[in-house]
Amino acid sequence: MKFPPFEHLHFYEKLHGRGFVNISYSDMTPFTIAEFGRSIPTNLDMNWGEPAGMPALRTNLAKLHGVPRDRVLVTSGATEANFLVNAALVEPRSRVVVDAPMYSPLRDCPRGFASDVVEIPRDPRDGWAPDLDRIRKAVNRNTRLLVLANLNNPTSSMLSKGELREILDIATEHDAFVLADETFREMAFGRAPPSIATLSPRGIAVSTVSKLYGLGVLRVGWLVASRGVLQRIAGIKDYTTASASALSQVFANWAIERHQFFLDRARTIVEANRTILREELGNMPAIDLSVPDIGNVVFPRCAVNVEKLERLLIENYRTVIAHGRFFSAREFRNHFRLGLGGKTSEFRKGLANLKRALSELTSGRAPPRTSRKSPPRGRRG
Ligand SMILES: Cc1ncc(COP(=O)(O)O)c(C=O)c1O
Repeated sequence: MKFPPFEHLHFYEKLHGRGFVNISYSDMTPFTIAEFGRSIPTNLDMNWGEPAGMPALRTNLAKLHGVPRDRVLVTSGATEANFLVNAALVEPRSRVVVDAPMYSPLRDCPRGFASDVVEIPRDPRDGWAPDLDRIRKAVNRNTRLLVLANLNNPTSSMLSKGELREILDIATEHDAFVLADETFREMAFGRAPPSIATLSPRGIAVSTVSKLYGLGVLRVGWLVASRGVLQRIAGIKDYTTASASALSQVFANWAIERHQFFLDRARTIVEANRTILREELGNMPAIDLSVPDIGNVVFPRCAVNVEKLERLLIENYRTVIAHGRFFSAREFRNHFRLGLGGKTSEFRKGLANLKRALSELTSGRAPPRTSRKSPPRGRRG
């Protein structure tokens, strides 16, 4: 087995904690333990945890998805959930059809299981609508899995119930399954599409507390599927983590219990940054973007070379965007992702730096020294 390197993760690893203004993250401003204002139960069993997850947490997650509790399996992050779905369903040389642009592990994990991955790129000129005809043509009798994210990361485009049903019908005709990463489903704020797991036994949903809740270090995610599929997956999880961290599940459950609070918190943060982005776009003619009304990430097209822009921003402005190469094996090289979940002051600062870097690249002149950020340590002098 040979898994493609997770380049987007390694890109962030090199920059994190070094004082960069990162306006590309897809998570919300981190939530803190102090903000929970609660104490960890002293009688928590520190020896053994339910393999399927803490019952109270599973009950709360089941409510979020509108399914019975026995259709929910708690995992160590959505990352493990994705891995387990692939381990259970994907065989060497089988076909996996992946929507694009796409958060890269959803595309590259099946490659690690030696499947033939076919990307179906969406077209920004169609408002990032999925190309259902191309999806239908790409699916053959070797296809085991169709993969999508709803909302899509990095465009925030939403698949409607009708579109989900069409994709599920295609999967059913070919005895395949549909994996929908629903990490950003509720970032549609009041207009969230249904969970795919409620539409068909062929639908498998994964999600996490990492993004909407700003609780990524807990490493708590979950899977919602039919009982039969869940049983197969659980049998594999016995060999990966057996059960997710009990301590993390306590925190995750506190968060899910306050779901509406976290939804409101995310909405406040994202809407403030969305307004600033709309205001600033007029000052950045090199950027082509229709800002979506929903979601927390955007994927503009850029008239200047995005690799040069990325480098200039890092080296001279200590600012980070996510290049389009992270979201497709071949397409979208003239796009980049921005995230709307960070602190508003940071987002404003990052956009100002982006504006300066763009004007430097389009005019060929550097703006006056006073308006520039210091170069990274080690590059000075
Ligand atoms: C669509 C999507 N799914 C899953 C994850 C990661 O989830 P977790 O931290 O639970 O492994 C990310 C992180 O960026 C993501 O964008």
